[in-house]
Amino acid sequence: MLIGIDLGTTNSAVAIWRDGEAVLVPNVLGDFLTPSAVSIARDGQAWIGRPALDRLATHPQDTATSFKRLMGTASTTRLGGKAYKAGDYKAEDLSALVLGALAADVEALTGERPTEAVVTVPAFFNDRQRKATRRAGELAGLTVRRLINEPTAAALAFGLQDKGDREPFLVFDLGGGTFDVSVVEMFDGVVEVRASAGDNRLGGDDFDHALAAMAKPRIDPAHRLDALAAAHREALLKRAAETCRRALSTASEAEFALVLGEERLATVITEAEFESACEPLLRRLREPVVRALRDCAIDASELSEIVLVGGATRMPVVRRAITRLFGRFPNASVHPDHAVALGAAMQAALVGRDAALDEIRITDVCPFTLGVEVAEQDGHGGLQRGLFSPVIERNTPVPVSRMNTYSTLGDNQKTLEFGIYQGEAREVRGNVKLGHIAIPVPPRAAGEVSAQVRFSYDSSGLLEIDVHVPASGVERNLVIVDEEDRPGRKELESRRAALAKLKFHPREDAGNVAVMTRAERCYEDHIGDVRQAIGHWITLFAGALDTQDPRRIADARAMLVARLDEVESVGPL
Ligand SMILES: Nc1ncnc2c1ncn2[C@@H]1O[C@H](COP(=O)(O)OP(=O)(O)OP(=O)(O)O)[C@@H](O)[C@H]1O
Ligand SMILES: [Mg+2]
Repeated sequence: MLIGIDLGTTNSAVAIWRDGEAVLVPNVLGDFLTPSAVSIARDGQAWIGRPALDRLATHPQDTATSFKRLMGTASTTRLGGKAYKAGDYKAEDLSALVLGALAADVEALTGERPTEAVVTVPAFFNDRQRKATRRAGELAGLTVRRLINEPTAAALAFGLQDKGDREPFLVFDLGGGTFDVSVVEMFDGVVEVRASAGDNRLGGDDFDHALAAMAKPRIDPAHRLDALAAAHREALLKRAAETCRRALSTASEAEFALVLGEERLATVITEAEFESACEPLLRRLREPVVRALRDCAIDASELSEIVLVGGATRMPVVRRAITRLFGRFPNASVHPDHAVALGAAMQAALVGRDAALDEIRITDVCPFTLGVEVAEQDGHGGLQRGLFSPVIERNTPVPVSRMNTYSTLGDNQKTLEFGIYQGEAREVRGNVKLGHIAIPVPPRAAGEVSAQVRFSYDSSGLLEIDVHVPASGVERNLVIVDEEDRPGRKELESRRAALAKLKFHPREDAGNVAVMTRAERCYEDHIGDVRQAIGHWITLFAGALDTQDPRRIADARAMLVARLDEVESVGPL
């Protein structure tokens, strides 16, 4: 079975194609969104999703969130001591655990374990990040048949609502970690992405940081939080910030509060204060919009709709910024949290050639320029090195294959070396280095030997490079050389085996585990009498669990949930 997955920075979701339409699959708690959070204890016990997020407050050293931001880097997160190698997980390992949980949800619903997936990625994900995402799928036992850009998936979900023609519309996707903009048109069954632009490092997380940076000196003038371990401090501030920020979506002021030891540190933040704290972030929303429109030569006034996607577009400050930018109100007709996963399932149906979508075609673009590093004669007998020579220009429709020819610069040069870059800057140091390729050339006078460099960018956004030296017939093929980046079969196998050794709660216990982790988190969120009461309720629930009597457990759980709901409805914290 082929499924569609939105692997988000904050939340992930999975959808399948059934009876001619895309449907979301609920997780074991009945939610369509599974927090992209993983918690692993020293003994290898693992939690994924909602309970993992609750454990962020109580066990910050064991818990990871927002790891999508590290995708495709060598960075690791140490969790749970020495359970897995040294307990160091790459973003792709943690993502694999989330993907595995989503696949299990599909299996629970349909009785069939999915083996293939379409996974969404931010349009601005570079080659390394895309390959890491694909490996995450492999580690979870899923063959990633296609990677699809998130705004393109959202555009499918929006555009295929009635399958009619649509004038150009703009998808504005601001999630937890990334911002993507796409201009899309639908004509005669062809969904055509005209241009994409974005910012890989802009999302709700950044608004949390901005808010925390403003509030921290107010609640903690004596710098007591600085004495905490960084992971603990960040977890406390992040939670306080997100709670406050969400409250500001429906109220003109909200409390920013956290519990430190036996004390509650709190301040009230007004909407105006919040808006000024995130002013620099709001300004960064403009550039990608302008660039995408310019690249496809469409004027903002020609757009039929501005389609909002991503949880962070719920923030009134963001909506106001969008309204100012376009001079009109955006369209909120697709569900901002569900559109990407639904679009992924539609893409899965397209890949699987489902009859219901027979007449639909989709074309996407490469959202950034790809090229090589070159040196140029400066006209005064010198060489200027480190320049970027584009091979595939941004917003070229994909799949695409382009070739450039480059010659030697020195006499008797033995090799031609190419740094491979992505970006728009004239000098390569302003761009992202993706890899490096070297090819031997026959020694001749400068400029007499040349190499043909071909870049091929496929519909998943994966890059392949072929270099050919006609003079010698030597060829090289590169899928990015970095060793770090290309773990061998064996390493992947051993990582998969290590992940498989983690212990997961049996599915039937998931509800109890989630309630217990939530109660423990609530305990830490409160002080005084309320805290004591929560402690007592936890003891009662633990006692019921010990009896192993399903009726008593269910009763105790319902009671605990009702009490926690009551405590948590009082206000933030
Ligand atoms: N009601 C709300 N008010 C304010 N912010 C919200 C609200 N609901 C969700 N968010 C924010 O939306 C963000 C998550 O959005 P979403 O689930 O679309 O992101 P994601 O898909 O996980 O991330 P990405 O697409 O960047 O990888 C979080 O920062 C969250 O705080
Ligand atoms: Mg998203």
